[in-house]
Amino acid sequence: MIRAHLTIDPHFTVGPINRRLFGSFVEHLGRCVYDGIYEPGHTRADEDGFRTDVIELVRELGVSTIRYPGGNFVSGYRWEDGVGPRDQRPRRLDLAWHSTETNEIGLDEFATWLGKVDSELMYAVNLGTRGVLEALDVLEYANHRSGTEWSDRRVANGHPEPHGIRMWCLGNEMDGPWQLGHSTAQEYGQLASKTARAMRQIDPDLELVVCGSSGAQMPTFGEWERVVLEETYDNVDFISCHAYYEPSGDDFGSFLASAVNMDRFIEAVVATADHVKAVRNSDKTINISFDEWNVWYQSRYNEVDKITDVADWPVAPRLLEDSYTVLDAVVFGSLLISLIRHADRVTSASLAQLVNVIAPIMTEPGGPAWRQTTFFPFSLTSQLARGVALELKLDSPTYDTEQYGAVPIVDAVATHDPDEGGTTVFAVNRSLTDEVTLQIDARALGAAKSAKATSIFDDDIHAANTLAQPDRVAPRENDSVELSEGAITVTLPPCSWTVLTVD
Ligand code: AHR
Repeated sequence: MIRAHLTIDPHFTVGPINRRLFGSFVEHLGRCVYDGIYEPGHTRADEDGFRTDVIELVRELGVSTIRYPGGNFVSGYRWEDGVGPRDQRPRRLDLAWHSTETNEIGLDEFATWLGKVDSELMYAVNLGTRGVLEALDVLEYANHRSGTEWSDRRVANGHPEPHGIRMWCLGNEMDGPWQLGHSTAQEYGQLASKTARAMRQIDPDLELVVCGSSGAQMPTFGEWERVVLEETYDNVDFISCHAYYEPSGDDFGSFLASAVNMDRFIEAVVATADHVKAVRNSDKTINISFDEWNVWYQSRYNEVDKITDVADWPVAPRLLEDSYTVLDAVVFGSLLISLIRHADRVTSASLAQLVNVIAPIMTEPGGPAWRQTTFFPFSLTSQLARGVALELKLDSPTYDTEQYGAVPIVDAVATHDPDEGGTTVFAVNRSLTDEVTLQIDARALGAAKSAKATSIFDDDIHAANTLAQPDRVAPRENDSVELSEGAITVTLPPCSWTVLTVD
């Protein structure tokens, strides 16, 4: 019998849980927008052509902020193609995904959709093939009330109220050689700095995100962050992190420990940002917008999905449509644990992406929409992580991994809501073979009245929800919970993710 011990004390806090941690990402990529959120011919489409079944699922998922319109797509995007009368909008080559962009959906339509799902818009400007002027134009179009060229065009396009976008991304993954306009850290930092200063001349209170590395595995990682922040420190608020995980062959032990990599990544970026702060003798702290994270079978994309025929430029092709298993959901849940553990510095995050493209929600054209396995850890965490993240004392036996050495079998984080008094523990059991008894010392919480747990696990860790079997995997009540005088025990099944709420 494997045991792990956890001590919870609500006096030891990491920081407040920002709702923006539960953001997502919609890119003009594959079937995320077209045949995803938007399918005017579908029986469930509303008056604007948006699928109401998808809207319902996005609301159930509990998404706070949505990053748009890319991604790699944004580095070739002309935002003005997507506004104004639809019949006059141009079709364009999308070089990032070798597709044709019809521009049926643009900024105004997307803002309308966000109102329906009750989320905040986080808008990315193109700093790959464009620059300061175009960023100013889209800011004026989106946020200026009226009385100028661009703001009056928005009004004429049927949107009298400004969109009021607070968070803006200064380009996307400019360190990546695949990115249109890929540049050195210094070149990008100077452009981002000029753009940020100009945008703040329109509105000094905007929240601006500068591009960090597209992954901790990049050869320029660390140095990229240092140079970019030296160029931009006074003009931005966040630096971005992006991370995707997939198993290497059948090394599931390392895959289950992916959050170790995410922890190290976050801590390295925090250290670099604070180094620049120290060198500049600045009072200002730069936080992290972890604006792309997920499990992504990227090797499948490179080997199977990628469009390599130069003459083929399809509209909304099936790209990056990963089907997620129970194993993936457990890893995914552990990534959420890592983000919450760093809630003091990761104050915004975006699950990449939202619909059809490496997504928690899938759709079939003319058919149903369904929840992937990863939907559940996201929706439960978004719903139950309230108040502040707590510092925990966690003792767990370890197991050996090929990639990260000895790693704790159990990982966990807890949140506490000082107003309501509720506490929630999120825990993962990384053992593929053994259940673990998690013993929680919760005496510092006072008189706990009840505790209940929900887990995601299955005898078949490769089980997934599909068009044929959309409800194959769902969270299950974990009835192993025992509570006695401040001591709580819960059994974590092998390869599982669990949420435990204590009232
Ligand atoms: O989310 C898919 C792609 O991954 C994004 O377009 C890009 O920013 C990242 O490399």
